[in-house]
Amino acid sequence: MPGLPLIIDCDPGVDDAIALLLALAAPDALEVLAITTVAGNVGGDLTARNACLVREIASRPDVPVFAGMERPLSREPVAADHFHGVSGLGDLPVPTPARGPEPLHAVDYLVETLRSRPSGEVTLALTGPMTNLAEAMRRAPDIIPRIRRVVAMGGARREGGNITASAEFNIFADPHAADEVVRSGVELALLGLDVTHQVTATEARRRKISELSGASAAAASRLLAFSAGTEARLGTGGPPPLHDPCVILALLDPGTFRFRPCALAIETSSPLTLGHTAVEYRVGPERPANADWAVDADSDRAFDLIYRLLGQAA
Ligand code: BDR
Ligand code: CA
Repeated sequence: MPGLPLIIDCDPGVDDAIALLLALAAPDALEVLAITTVAGNVGGDLTARNACLVREIASRPDVPVFAGMERPLSREPVAADHFHGVSGLGDLPVPTPARGPEPLHAVDYLVETLRSRPSGEVTLALTGPMTNLAEAMRRAPDIIPRIRRVVAMGGARREGGNITASAEFNIFADPHAADEVVRSGVELALLGLDVTHQVTATEARRRKISELSGASAAAASRLLAFSAGTEARLGTGGPPPLHDPCVILALLDPGTFRFRPCALAIETSSPLTLGHTAVEYRVGPERPANADWAVDADSDRAFDLIYRLLGQAA
């Protein structure tokens, strides 16, 4: 069976980079049509460069990279380089990649691809602010029903926020984009901090990854070591959560996560709770569900797949 046609829209980012390495290690299951990048964790020039570097590490020159939006739709940009390092890739060496991004803008690529591929074929994996997709939907609303499904990392309910008390970074970084995507009617599955905080790279798990061979496993191991240090200083205080890889794991092995249908809304105006994800499980005819919200993760199952993918990666 051919792999699932997929576009990965991301802001690498240490955990985005690991998500990319996992996806690019599964060519039978995922047909990665392209990687599109957006400003987020670091500036747009760096996220595009980083995606090209990860593609090189993964030895997947067949996957094009398209650079996208440099700023959120309306708010001032916020970065997370305190978590990801100034380069965005922790302390990984960052030489200039042999090949850069394609000349086409990521938003144009999204519109062209969704219009030219059969309707309902292409899935979108989002691991950064949703600016590219929201902008594509604004320019070409006809693409919305053509999208098979959006699977995204973002938001928090049980866990509270990681950038403010009530907001998760990807949603906070462009709440207006997230709001437009949520209200667009597209089929949406969201994996927020409630589950990503369950999928943590403990020391034992990091050791297991460090024993795998190949450039992808070596890079993942180094990225995780960097994240462990930052997380201990600035984050949860525990082992680093694998936020963005959860999106790829959910696509490859849906049983790893349990989802609940919900009515989801994004806070776009309150200065105090900007970017908060209001997740309402009491859905029905009065308040229809518009998203699937991830509530639980089987972290051992997640890591079994991670070991398998990184073990078989280039
Ligand atoms: C999300 O924020 C970013 O810093 C990470 O790459 C991830 O996408 C976690 O809140
Ligand atoms: Ca990210």
